[in-house]
Amino acid sequence: MKMELNLAFIGFGTVGKGLAELLIKKEKELKQKYNFEPKVVAISDKIKGSIWKSDGIDLKELLDTEARTGKVDFYQAPSKGLDPLDTITKTNADVIIEVSYTNLQTGEPALTHVKTALTNGKQVVTTNKGPAALSLRGLEELAEKEGVNFFYEGTVLSGTPVFSLIRDGLRGAKVKVIEGILNGTTNYILTQMEEGKSYEDALKDAQDEGYAEADPTGDVEGWDATGKIVILANKLFGGEMSVANVERKGITSITPGNINLAKNKGKRIKLIARASVEGGKIRAKVTPEELPLTNPLANINGATNALTLKTDVLGEVTMVGPGAGKIETGYALLNDLLELNKRLEKS
Ligand code: HSE
Repeated sequence: MKMELNLAFIGFGTVGKGLAELLIKKEKELKQKYNFEPKVVAISDKIKGSIWKSDGIDLKELLDTEARTGKVDFYQAPSKGLDPLDTITKTNADVIIEVSYTNLQTGEPALTHVKTALTNGKQVVTTNKGPAALSLRGLEELAEKEGVNFFYEGTVLSGTPVFSLIRDGLRGAKVKVIEGILNGTTNYILTQMEEGKSYEDALKDAQDEGYAEADPTGDVEGWDATGKIVILANKLFGGEMSVANVERKGITSITPGNINLAKNKGKRIKLIARASVEGGKIRAKVTPEELPLTNPLANINGATNALTLKTDVLGEVTMVGPGAGKIETGYALLNDLLELNKRLEKS
């Protein structure tokens, strides 16, 4: 049976464009191998404008238009100017791809986008950490109540498949401790500083590569890693911990002197996120740590991330992979869309 899935993007920045590029590049393979033939019908971006074309937008032409003009609403479409909420509720989109900017304090406006979509019976796929970090349980319950799906693979470790591994690959295993390098920007900066680059130049490179958040304070002050450990901890330990409960320190006070001192001791400074359950309570913390080079996390360099899950039956299971990047994070959305497609096919 051919599955018709109409997609709408809320936000069309780096990650959204990454997904659009993948949909073009892999069109044939997605159709042949996964019976997946999506149509992008709408895009609503705060700065680049909004378009709705119910019979499908030509993604190549759209990306060309956006590259030439910086706008999506220069693309010829019968309807323009719908805001995100109207795009979610009034268009013929079945799946809302929420890729607007992350706000870990309020989750907004993404949290309202996601809630509105779920309440209106739309599927949601997102890489936005705000809603998942603030209200994971509530959103999962809402999705279940409405009979739709809420997928957020790309919120942690970009396209490296964390949540699908937890969902499908670790059935019956209990995770007791979560530990990892969850922020690509800070790991990239620390690696570059060890190689002699200044903090400022390394941060600029991370921004140019598309690793950093729109406001990189979120990365360097540890907020991004904090949001991610909260999502992981709440998913794996079934809690409702908030970002405010996490002990947090970023890397802004780390100097080249600190890095060299650690190096002379045979160690490396890494921003480590950790969570566990102690006395029935979830405890989580994000802090720079000096790790001996014998620790596998000490050897994770650049924008690469790593996550170790300490389990009851397997001991430690470690995943290493990209933690940021346009295509890498766009791929997380694609992976979620394929899972969604599979579920809908079966239903
Ligand atoms: N700014 C984030 C990072 C992007 O550097 O890891 C991926 O969540």
